[in-house]
Amino acid sequence: MSLFSSLKLREWREDDIAPMAEIEQQAYPYPWSAGILRDCLHAGHLGWTAWSRGELVAYSVVQAVLDEAHLLNLCTAPAWQGQGVGRGMLSWVMQQCAAREMQRMLLEVRASNTPALGLYRALGFEQDGVRKGYYPATGGREDAHGWRI
Ligand SMILES: CC(C)(COP(=O)(O)OP(=O)(O)OC[C@H]1O[C@@H](n2cnc3c(N)ncnc32)[C@H](O)[C@@H]1OP(=O)(O)O)[C@@H](O)C(=O)NCCC(=O)NCCS
Repeated sequence: MSLFSSLKLREWREDDIAPMAEIEQQAYPYPWSAGILRDCLHAGHLGWTAWSRGELVAYSVVQAVLDEAHLLNLCTAPAWQGQGVGRGMLSWVMQQCAAREMQRMLLEVRASNTPALGLYRALGFEQDGVRKGYYPATGGREDAHGWRI
């Protein structure tokens, strides 16, 4: 049995915000705050959390716009990375979106985010342009690569 298939997945809810915000701090150079996460939850964005024995392992947030899914966040807690969790989570999120009649998924990713770029490529996403200076970065701005499937 793969590690991912041993995780317990469910839709996100209010008491997920604090553990998610903690992982944000560990996983991203520019983490989302608890406030941003809460705004996304209250805005009705879709989200899922994956758990192992009460420990938050991974999560994802998606904004549905008509038949399009915009992947806003996908994160594996650093201690759990490199074990197939991100791949399993993204596949599962894509299935959830397809089940809700969404035909496409798009996302932005930092040009320097090698693990994420590898994951999106591995799951069949294709690059769809560059958004110049989309992200804040040390000493300036960083481009985003747009990807879609
Ligand atoms: C991107 C992220 C979600 C990947 O999660 P993960 O659980 O470590 O990924 P997996 O172990 O499932 O790896 C899946 C694929 O991603 C790619 N990948 C993962 N880590 C990689 C690395 N360090 N370097 C290159 N490619 C990598 C590979 O293609 C890998 O497939 P493979 O194992 O068959 O080679 C994780 O690195 C993360 O949470 N990063 C911080 C948050 C973030 O940047 N999210 C993306 C925002 S757009």
